[in-house]
Amino acid sequence: MSPEFDAVDVILTKRDRRALSDEQIDWVISAYTRGDVADEQMSALAMAILLNGMDRREVSRWTEAMIASGERMSFADALDGRPTTDKHSTGGVGDKITLPLAPLVAACGAAVPQLSGRGLGHTGGTLDKLESIPGWRASLSGDEFLAQLRSVGAVICAANDNLAPADKKLYGLRDVTGTVESIPLIASSIMSKKIAEGTGALVLDVKVGSGAFMKEVDAARELAETMVALGSDHGVRTVALLTNMQTPLGLTAGNALEVRESVEVLAGGGPEDVVELTLVLAREMLAAAGIDDVDPATRLKDGSAMDVWRRMIAAQGGDPEGELPTARETHVVPVPADGVLTRLDAYAVGVAAWRLGAGRARKEDPVQAGAGVQLHAKPGALVRGGEPLFTLHTDTPERFDRAMEALADAITIAPEDSRPDLLPLVIERVGA
Ligand code: URA
Repeated sequence: MSPEFDAVDVILTKRDRRALSDEQIDWVISAYTRGDVADEQMSALAMAILLNGMDRREVSRWTEAMIASGERMSFADALDGRPTTDKHSTGGVGDKITLPLAPLVAACGAAVPQLSGRGLGHTGGTLDKLESIPGWRASLSGDEFLAQLRSVGAVICAANDNLAPADKKLYGLRDVTGTVESIPLIASSIMSKKIAEGTGALVLDVKVGSGAFMKEVDAARELAETMVALGSDHGVRTVALLTNMQTPLGLTAGNALEVRESVEVLAGGGPEDVVELTLVLAREMLAAAGIDDVDPATRLKDGSAMDVWRRMIAAQGGDPEGELPTARETHVVPVPADGVLTRLDAYAVGVAAWRLGAGRARKEDPVQAGAGVQLHAKPGALVRGGEPLFTLHTDTPERFDRAMEALADAITIAPEDSRPDLLPLVIERVGA
């Protein structure tokens, strides 16, 4: 039982750049979760943390206190020794990698217990994408979750309310108080949920670039190092990759559009960058789970990843063979001039997809399953004026103008002999 503290004293400690004690942290998280610390007090504390930071001990304790605010799941005895491994992406545009990745890794022998979220702002959410599949449902009971993990090997579903409830409350508050962009708060928020989810191993895909939270490699590295340390401190084998989010992943941004592209990958096709990142992350997830005798590329080619996908979708009520929804209206935006496409900005595409109806501004907004942006070229490609550059999809054509405004400065076309200076897909690896 932690002693009682005064919320104002805790705020003053951090405001005055002193470290919070373990007891202060335990108390403030638990008192906030039960409603004894008010939102305005937690907002002030979050702002003090954003401005003055937390050291490694504080972040670790903060994370532990958020985990302890709910239940910590454990599969150790339920999977007959099959190791668990998961991936978390910090979010990007066109980032549909979880969709082919989870069934692929399950097809290689690990179990993937993935609790995912919905999209907010310009980045999409995995659950929104999967919900474009007719009949598929995101909510599972604890028993259904475990049964599917045992029988199929992969589950992607919504977290229940008892998984790090302190984070749920705090994240909502940070979203409206300008306190999201704090490395200790982001790291503890993500890792409290992933540790509570009960995975034995975790691969973090930390996105860097215009379409990501972290615009610069140095900040992304610091976030990755903080999360890897938190994972290790809590017994989860964790590695992180910093990956390129200057340009969207693949050729689609939007819910059903991205599911279609993911199924192409599972069928052995799909855009090169999506296939490459899926395989790189699969190898990391398997290595972290101690599986080193299977090459995921073979499981993609021989159809076994597709088999797991079909079973995973069907187990949650979806029809894996069903027609995916398409938007009622499309509009093609042409390439403005001949040359080499040297820049295609991820953020601009994310905002355009969002304005077309693929994303939401508030948590309770609905999304359009068919809305989004299809790309016809990627950076490095030779393009000709008048050819299609983007196809915009929406049910509500009055949205086209605002989407095109977002795309107005999204590209650079350079003379044909130019060589674009592009970041590699995988920029850096952090962890043992
Ligand atoms: N995702 C989370 O879950 N938490 C954050 O703070 C940021 C991104």
